[in-house]
Amino acid sequence: MPLITWTEEQFGTKVGFADEEHKELFRLLNKLYDDVAGGADRDTIGASLDALIAYVVDHFAHEEREMEAVGFAGLASHKAEHDALVATCADLQKKFHAGEADVTAEVGEMVKDWLDKHIPTFDFAYSSAIG
Ligand code: FE2
Ligand code: FE2
Repeated sequence: MPLITWTEEQFGTKVGFADEEHKELFRLLNKLYDDVAGGADRDTIGASLDALIAYVVDHFAHEEREMEAVGFAGLASHKAEHDALVATCADLQKKFHAGEADVTAEVGEMVKDWLDKHIPTFDFAYSSAIG
């Protein structure tokens, strides 16, 4: 069973690019979680981790560009949320590749919990502004 499943009811922003990118983000998170749960080797897990984080960074930048383009008032607080997750991810990524930390199921669950809260609050908030 996937860790996280995209549904219109729970995650639909009514913004086409955001919904498509969220679906891809969920796919990459589920891949990483499955690798970890299935006992994949370290190189495989590392590749999945890097792919997920790279996609997260690109997705956040895309949202921020769109908010900026319309002068969205909530940009600064939204960006602060993004920056906090990216900082957490970058730290883990560095430690993983230095052999100082592993990716565990809890890491996947942490990202899932973050998305469960962030999308319906912060992402839904830009819906009418950039939709
Ligand atoms: Fe988003
Ligand atoms: Fe966001």
